[in-house]
Amino acid sequence: MESIKVGLLGLGVVGGGTWKVLARNAGEISRRAGRSIEITRVAVRDLAKARAMLGSAVDVGTDPFAVVRDPSIDIVVELIGGDTLARDLVLEAIAQGKHVVTANKALLAKHGTEIFAAASAKGVMVAFEAAVAGGIPIIKAMREGLTANRIEWVAGIINGTTNFILSEMRSRGLPFATVLAEAQKLGYAEADPTFDIEGVDAAHKLTLLASLAFGIPVQFDKAHIEGISQLASEDIKLAERLGYRIKLLGITKRRSNGIELRVHPALVPSSSLLANVEGAMNAVLVRGDAVGQTLYYGKGAGEEPTASAVVADIVDVTRLHTADPEHRVPHLAFQPDAMADTPILSIEDVVTAYYLRMTVADQPGVLADIARVLADAGISIGSMIQQPSDADGSADLIFLTHQALERNINTAIARIESLQFVRSSVTRLRVESLS
Ligand code: NDP
Ligand code: HSE
Repeated sequence: MESIKVGLLGLGVVGGGTWKVLARNAGEISRRAGRSIEITRVAVRDLAKARAMLGSAVDVGTDPFAVVRDPSIDIVVELIGGDTLARDLVLEAIAQGKHVVTANKALLAKHGTEIFAAASAKGVMVAFEAAVAGGIPIIKAMREGLTANRIEWVAGIINGTTNFILSEMRSRGLPFATVLAEAQKLGYAEADPTFDIEGVDAAHKLTLLASLAFGIPVQFDKAHIEGISQLASEDIKLAERLGYRIKLLGITKRRSNGIELRVHPALVPSSSLLANVEGAMNAVLVRGDAVGQTLYYGKGAGEEPTASAVVADIVDVTRLHTADPEHRVPHLAFQPDAMADTPILSIEDVVTAYYLRMTVADQPGVLADIARVLADAGISIGSMIQQPSDADGSADLIFLTHQALERNINTAIARIESLQFVRSSVTRLRVESLS
C-alpha cells in the first residue's frame, strides 16, 4: 500500500523528536499502522538548522501554508505552537480536507470548539494526545478506555516545568530562577515560560481534560488559575513539616451544582501517589464510578516523550484514514450533539481543605480570637502549629482546616487580617487529599 504522507509544521523540540522517533522506529511503526508513514514536507523558519537535521530527502521550506495546501499531504502535524498562526494553519488544513495532529494545548483550549466543529463538518480528525501530559496516553484512556464510567473527578500534575521547579527547590534547595533556566535548557518549558509558571499551560490542559471527562465544551476562560510564582519557600518547608508536599495541581470535579475547574498549588499528603511524582514527570488521577481511581504516570514534557504521543496520533489517523467519519471516536469523547451545558463553578463555590499561615503578636487571647473568627465562618480547625516568628514579639500561626467553602474562607481571612494583633496578610493554600 502507498505510504501516508505527512506535512510537518515546526521542527523544534517536539517536531525534531517526531522526526527522530518516526525515522528510528519506522519498521515497527509501519507494522502497526498497516502502511509506512513518510514525512514529505516540512516548514520551519530557519532552513539551515532544519536541513542539518533532515538532509536532502525532505522538501523543507519556510511557508507553512504551502505544506497545508499541498494536495499530496494526507496529515498535517502542527508543532509550531501559539494560537494565532497555528489556528489559521489548522483551520486551513481542515478546509483542505486534511487530518490534523497537534500538540498545541493553547490552541485547542482557546479555539477547540471552532476547530472541532470545522473538523466534524469536513469529516476529518484532529488528534491531540501530545497536548496533555506529554507522553502519557491520557486522551486515549479517557476517550476510549473509560467510556463505561460516569467520571467524578480528574486531578493531576500536568505541567512538567513547574513540577521540575518545585521538586528541585524542595530536594536540592536550588533557587527558582536557576531551576527554571534548567527546565528551559531541557526543552520542557513553553516558548513563553510564564505560561508554565503562572499555571496557564496546566489550565489549557485541564480545560481539555474537563471536556473529555464531562462532555462539556472547552471553556478555558472559566478556569481558575494560580501559578507558583507567589509560592514562598517557607510554605514548602512548613508543608513538609506537616506531612505534605506542595504541587501545582489541575483539578476538575463534578459537583451537584456544576463543575470545578481549577489550577493552583496545593498541599498533598507526602505519602500520596501525587506527592511522589517528581521532576518533569506528570501524573493524572481519574476517578470513575465503575472503575474507581486510576492513575496515569509518565514523562510530561520533552523531545521524545512528547513525540511518542504525536507519532501515536499519526498511527491512529493512518489506521482510521479510510473509516466512515461517523464511526470514528468523537474528538472530545462525547458525540458533538450530546454535549452538556453544565456550568463551571466560581472558585468561591469550591469546597476543599485549607492551610492558613499568619504572623501575629505573641500575646494572650490571640489564638482564641482567631479560632472564634474561623468558627463564626463555619470553619473547623483540623490542626494548628505555632512557631516563633522572625519579627520581634511575634509568632507564626499555621492552621490546617477541615473541608470548607472557599467563600467562607475568604470571609474569615478578611476578618482575620483586620484584627489589630495580626501583623501579616494571611497566606492561603488549598489542601487536597484526593481520597
Ligand atoms: P519549539 O519552539 O522548540 O519549536 C517550534 C518550531 O516551530 C520551530 O521549529 C520553529 O522553527 C517553528 N516555527 C515557529 N514559527 C514558525 C513559522 N512562522 N513558520 C514556520 N515554522 C515556524 O517548540 P516546541 O517543539 O517545544 O513546542 C511545539 C508545540 O508543542 C507547542 O504547541 C507546545 O506547547 C507543544 N508541546 C511542547 C512540549 C515540550 O515538551 N516542548 C510538550 C507538549 C506539547 P525554527 O526553529 O526554524 O525557528
Ligand atoms: N511546558 C509544558 C510542560 C510542556 O512543562 O509541561 C508539556 O506540555
